[in-house]
Amino acid sequence: MADSKNDNTLTSTEYWQEDFWKIGEAEIPNLEIDIHDLEYRELHQFLKQHLPSQNNLRVLELGCHPGRFLWYFHTHFGYQVEGVEYVGPACQLTQKALESHQIPTKIHHADFLKFESPDEPFDIVFSAGLVEHFVDVSPAIRGHTELTKPGGLVVIVIPNHAGLNGAILKHIDRKVYDAHNHMSYRDLKRVCDQDPELEFVTGGYLSRFNLSPSNFFQHKLEKWPLWFYKVVFKLYSLSMRAARILPNTRCLSPNTILIARRKENAHPS
Ligand SMILES: C[S@@+](CC[C@H](N)C(=O)[O-])C[C@H]1O[C@@H](n2cnc3c(N)ncnc32)[C@H](O)[C@@H]1O
Repeated sequence: MADSKNDNTLTSTEYWQEDFWKIGEAEIPNLEIDIHDLEYRELHQFLKQHLPSQNNLRVLELGCHPGRFLWYFHTHFGYQVEGVEYVGPACQLTQKALESHQIPTKIHHADFLKFESPDEPFDIVFSAGLVEHFVDVSPAIRGHTELTKPGGLVVIVIPNHAGLNGAILKHIDRKVYDAHNHMSYRDLKRVCDQDPELEFVTGGYLSRFNLSPSNFFQHKLEKWPLWFYKVVFKLYSLSMRAARILPNTRCLSPNTILIARRKENAHPS
């Protein structure tokens, strides 16, 4: 498949394959998400509250490598899962990783903006960490809508780079920072509200203060003496505990989520 870098994308297949996933060195990835882990706990609670509980709904994840969310939706919701991924080797590894868990799936090798499902539109179209890699996010959101059946849900999760995590990332890793559109929850909602076939369901900032989206500690592990790293990490852990009493906000929260419904009277594409 040809590289999909164009004026509206902030990344390319090379970026994902070589810089981000370093796929040449990849083994079959571990997919198991710990729903009690700080990184996933609030996301899991939010999704359990707002997504349908019927087994066997069909969910499609766009930009799905390594497949952890497909594993998650199959394991915790009983959904049938499929994915779209435009990096060829990542696509194959995701297929293998899910098969190694005996999860039946089809991972489509395609640019999601050009992907046409051979089957019916999906009950839920999900992405995490995808739409913020576009300058103008509208076509990316439209891509989700078109793959969703009327009455189905679009679920979009992005790292929150509009607050502290973005400011830190800008200083420690300019290349990764520049690969993102640093939109706020309000910006994301505005774009969804402009899609005439979507109606807003719910959304907001998600999770208490933590620095995982800026990879701050992975970055500093290589740069700081180990004893100093441990001291700062201890202080960070304490501040995260203290932050449990604070509300989720643009400044501190690591993630943003939005759920919208494709209107019942929409015409499937
Ligand atoms: C930040 S990663 C997120 C991976 C996954 N959603 C997760 O959270 O575990 C973004 C993924 O989207 C893929 N991607 C980016 N643009 C894409 C496109 N236009 N079509 C299909 N996949 C794309 C990348 O190759 C990469 O694997």
